[in-house]
This record gives sequence, structure tokens and C-alpha cells, in this order.
Amino acid sequence: MVLVSKLVKTIAYERYGNTDVMKIIDIPIPKPDTGQILVNVHAAALNPKDYLVRKGLFKWLTRGGFPKIPGLDFAGTIAEVGPNVELSVGTPIYGSLNEISTKRGTLTEFLLIDQTECAPKPNALSFVEAAAIPLAGQTALQALQDLIHLKSGQKILILGASGGVGVYAIQIAKAMGAHVTTTSSEGNKDFCKSLGADIALDYRVDNPFAQQDRYDAIFDAFGNQSFSKAEKSLKPEGVYVNTVPSLRILWDYVRTLFSGKRAKMVLVRSNTEDLNELAAMVETGTLKPVIDSVYEFDNYREAFKRIESRHARGKVVVKVSEQGLQHF
Ligand SMILES: NC(=O)c1ccc[n+]([C@@H]2O[C@H](COP(=O)([O-])OP(=O)(O)OC[C@H]3O[C@@H](n4cnc5c(N)ncnc54)[C@H](OP(=O)(O)O)[C@@H]3O)[C@@H](O)[C@H]2O)c1
Repeated sequence: MVLVSKLVKTIAYERYGNTDVMKIIDIPIPKPDTGQILVNVHAAALNPKDYLVRKGLFKWLTRGGFPKIPGLDFAGTIAEVGPNVELSVGTPIYGSLNEISTKRGTLTEFLLIDQTECAPKPNALSFVEAAAIPLAGQTALQALQDLIHLKSGQKILILGASGGVGVYAIQIAKAMGAHVTTTSSEGNKDFCKSLGADIALDYRVDNPFAQQDRYDAIFDAFGNQSFSKAEKSLKPEGVYVNTVPSLRILWDYVRTLFSGKRAKMVLVRSNTEDLNELAAMVETGTLKPVIDSVYEFDNYREAFKRIESRHARGKVVVKVSEQGLQHF
């Protein structure tokens, strides 16, 4: 294949700030090295990290200068492969970046990834639907499977269950045979039940830690609670997992290392095995993408405003480039 256009549209920013610091720029198409894949990105989903980094909240973590490119989730088609890559050109894939510097971001027409950051896209899903799963789905999977070791028949409380991470946590917990209690606003209680919640609480009215129930696990998907508050609602060997890195959760993790009740924090790591597992769940019908809204590329600021409202129901997705490899 011969490239007829070497510059591609990318959303980027040169300083920290609100949505207006972002603009569309042209960047050169990168070349894949050993183990790398060049993806023609068709759709990218947004995650809170995209705007938290842009606002400068993770400066200590995201060194590496500007421009920074937002976006971690992608679905697209393989355009070119480097040496030692098993997947071939033309394969539809999905995944998310293990990116800290955000020098790479998925809101670009052509993206360089490591082959371990992707897997073949579930056949049943469109690119927009597939882009809605990787980061949030893997966060939920890794929390429930690797940190909580959730078992059939156990009771789990999922806090902030109608958000990007929560909608997958509900479905994965049900697929694992758990009894699921959720929190969301009143307007999203039926929505949580439609995804599989057995009991849906309203966080504005019901104190989830004042219920009679004791849980084997509490997954704080929204991340605004703490182990100290949750502790009394856990069973003696119960596990509390938070999604937001903080000194408090690190300290709780250390001080409960040898306790019955444990505090943990999930730090998602994109990998082919987990993406394949999520794809298999999609194929068997136990997991479905949950999309709050879809935006055209040029309308990206509206997409950011929606996720920054903190009230998206599932994922916010941006269409990046049309399927059809128009650059080739
Ligand atoms: N550590 C990691 O590896 C990792 C990975 C992914 C995400 N995260 C973090 O996990 C957190 C959640 O991510 P997300 O993608 O699920 O966010 P999100 O999609 O922006 O969450 C939005 C949802 O949060 C709910 N919500 C708003 N205020 C709430 C409150 N006070 N209590 C409970 N729920 C509330 C909303 O429900 P209502 O509209 O019903 O209020 C909405 O459905 C973020 O802080 C993100 O940075 C961490």
C-alpha cells in the first residue's frame, strides 16, 4: 500500500487548561517499529483521565512535554505492522493505551500502538461500540477478577455504577454469578437494574454503608468514598477497591496488607488476554457496550463537556476517521 497523505488530523494541546486549549492539528504518520502496529483509528472513547491530565492534575505523572494528545481507548483497522507482529494489515482491532506521558493519544487518525495493547475487535460490534469497552471494561475486569477474586454467590456493592467503569462492573459481576447492589442517582436506578443490578440505591438518598447488608466486596468505581467508611459494611474477609490513586488508599492498602478486610486500588493495564476475555463475553452475550453519546470528530469539545459533566451514562465516543482507509 502507498501512502498518499502523510499528515493526519489529531486533537492536541500545548498547555494545561479547559476544553478550549485543545485544537485540531496535523501530525506526521508514525512508522511502526518491532512489535508495533499502526492503527487507522475509526472511533475513540473518552475517559476521565483524558480531561484530568489536560487540566494538569497529573503533572507529576505525565511528564514529557507538549503537545499532548488526549484519548486512551480506540477501535480501528490495522494499517501497517512492524517486525514480529502476528496480526495482519486490515484486521479490525480494539484496545487502550498504557500511556502515561500522553505523547500518544487515540484522538488521531493514525495511531502507533504496541501489539500487547490490542486484540481483534469483537465481530458483533461496530467500531463505535468496540471503542466503548477497552479501558473501562478492563478496569472493571481487573478489579473484580484479579483484585477481588469475586466468586459466584458473593455479594458486591458497586458505587457509581452508571458511569463508564460501573456499567461494565455490573455486567461482569453478574456474569461471575454475584449478587449486585449499585449506587447511582435516582434517574439511573432502573438503568442499573437493566444491566443486572439486584438492588439499586440512590446515592443522594440512601447511605450505602447504613444498610443491613454486609458485602464480600465493595467496588468504589466512582472513587469518592474510602475504606474507613466502607469497612463496617464488609464481611470479615471482604475487599474494598478504589479507582482513584490517592495517598489515603495507598496507606489503607499498606495497613490492611495482613488484615482480614483489605483495601486495594486498581491501576488498569491494557493487555491482549483481558481484551480477548471481554470480546468473548461480548460474543456470548454476557457483556454489551454501553454508550452515553457519540460525537463527530469536529465536535470533540462537546464530547469532552459531556464526560466532564460527571453524569455520562456509560461511555462517550468520538468518531475519528471513517472506515475505509481513505488515506491509502
Ligand atoms: N485506576 C484506574 O486504572 C482507573 C481506570 C479507569 C477509571 N478510573 C477512574 O475511575 C473513576 C470513574 O471513572 P468512570 O469512567 O466510571 O467515570 P464517569 O463515567 O465519568 O462517571 C460518571 C458516572 O458517575 C456517577 N456519579 C456522579 N456523581 C456521583 C457520586 N457522587 N456518587 C456516585 N456516583 C456518581 C454518575 O451517575 P449519576 O449521573 O447517576 O449521578 C455517572 O453515571 C474516575 O475517577 C476515573 O479517573 C481509574
